[in-house]
Amino acid sequence: MNVTLGFNLVSLAKGNYDLLLALLVAVGFYLYFTFKLKETRQDSQQDRIPGNLGLPFIGETFSFLSATNSTRGCYDFVTPRRLWYGKWFRTRLFGKIHVFIPTTDGAKQVLSSDFVQFNKGYVKSMADVAGKNSLFSVPVERHNKIRRLLSDQFSMSSLSKYVIKIDAMLSERMKEVERSGKSFRLLDFCMTATFDAICNVLMSITDYTTLREIERDCTDVSNATLTLPVMIPGTKYYKGMKARQRLVERFIKIIADRRKGNQNRREDFLQAMLDRDSFPPEEKLDDGEIMDNLLTMMFSGQNTTASAMMWSVKYLDDNSAAQERLREEQLEINRKKPEGEALALEDINQMTYGLKVIKETLRMCNIVLWLPRKALKDCTIDGHKIKQGWHVNIDATYIHYDPDIYKDPLRFNPSRFDEMQKPFSFLPFGYGPRTCLGINMAKVTMLVFLHRLTSGYRWTVDDQDPSLEKKGFIPRLRSGCPITLQSL
Ligand code: HEM
Repeated sequence: MNVTLGFNLVSLAKGNYDLLLALLVAVGFYLYFTFKLKETRQDSQQDRIPGNLGLPFIGETFSFLSATNSTRGCYDFVTPRRLWYGKWFRTRLFGKIHVFIPTTDGAKQVLSSDFVQFNKGYVKSMADVAGKNSLFSVPVERHNKIRRLLSDQFSMSSLSKYVIKIDAMLSERMKEVERSGKSFRLLDFCMTATFDAICNVLMSITDYTTLREIERDCTDVSNATLTLPVMIPGTKYYKGMKARQRLVERFIKIIADRRKGNQNRREDFLQAMLDRDSFPPEEKLDDGEIMDNLLTMMFSGQNTTASAMMWSVKYLDDNSAAQERLREEQLEINRKKPEGEALALEDINQMTYGLKVIKETLRMCNIVLWLPRKALKDCTIDGHKIKQGWHVNIDATYIHYDPDIYKDPLRFNPSRFDEMQKPFSFLPFGYGPRTCLGINMAKVTMLVFLHRLTSGYRWTVDDQDPSLEKKGFIPRLRSGCPITLQSL
């Protein structure tokens, strides 16, 4: 009987194909216009932010994906919309309404009320691979506690041991590539160096083969952070979850060995955490919190810092006056020290022009293009009504290139940082309770790198192609910025 009914339906459908199609189109139109009408009614009650929300759910997702998949980078989605709609615009991506916030006042309002009026949107894949105890996933009370206990280890004074470690490693590796006389991909060099430095400071891991194994797993974790969370073999999410499992097993073994005293005592981040074993619960992290945040720091610190290092070399290559001034500052630091002596934190503190080079690099390269948040309640930002559940993206890139804030914004000019910046006009590390935890570590790594590079070598950039890598949310040169070093 079911078969007969099925057969009848098929023949009916075949016979009335046009009718069915017309019906489907009519229902589609009805749903679309009802949805639009509802949105328009809501809009008319509020100061409408211009923009195109497109079809329900889909919105402008395909345009966004196409920009992400181009060699101009995913900010290429934002730029034309600013021309069409003005500084403030909204769009719909993956079913959610996004407003791009272009002002320092807007940034101030959102970032000063993080966790209260706004929060990071929950991303399941991120919470799964980074772990439920990661700073990226925990609610406000636990976030405060974890940050308080981690922050100590990332203060400038705690990083003095780190300066010695990273200096030795970078000097050695630069000598090796210079001796080879060959062109090499600077981005790859920086990725490996930053990863090794982070693992050294976190867990004193220095064995090259072990580091490469851990790096492969961390890359899989990082690639899985913004994916569809389905455990299907072959997908990025699946690979990321498997890699996380292997990393956690590795961390469990290292922690157990340290507690048994099977290793010589190490002075590193992990040891500082384990030294708190006998402290009351509020003053220590449990093993789950330690492991998830070890992993979080490993994948948050590598690509960001390495890409910024690469851009600093590119900008200095295009601006020989800035490069020479930086070189002079770094050579002066060397002149004051006995020959061959390693860098110390006091030397880092003297790199005032070096720090401006780093700030200008970060202003221009925008490693984090915008800072995403979700509105927890209805509110008004700079006179624009935002509804609960909308996503607001603080457009750091727009702010960093706003000519009213930075005169001649396309020019690489480190000396612009001689002057104090307006509040909320310099956001490469975010602001507020979620400011980058690794801010000092990133600055120190970049300063040591620029010191060794400019005081020891000149370089040529061997491929001037400005295209960016496809599908990346961090802007990186597609060429990897190949360079050749020549000793001074
Ligand atoms: C140039 C290098 C870096 C840049 C530009 C950068 C940028 C940022 C930004 C913008 C945020 C805040 C995101 C937001 O508010 O939505 C952030 C958060 C974070 N960063 Fe970095 N970062 C860098 C290096 C590092 C390093 C070296 C580490 C660790 C070793 C690190 C660890 C973290 C962590 C754990 C958070 C989350 C903080 C929280 O939610 O409390 N970052 N970073």
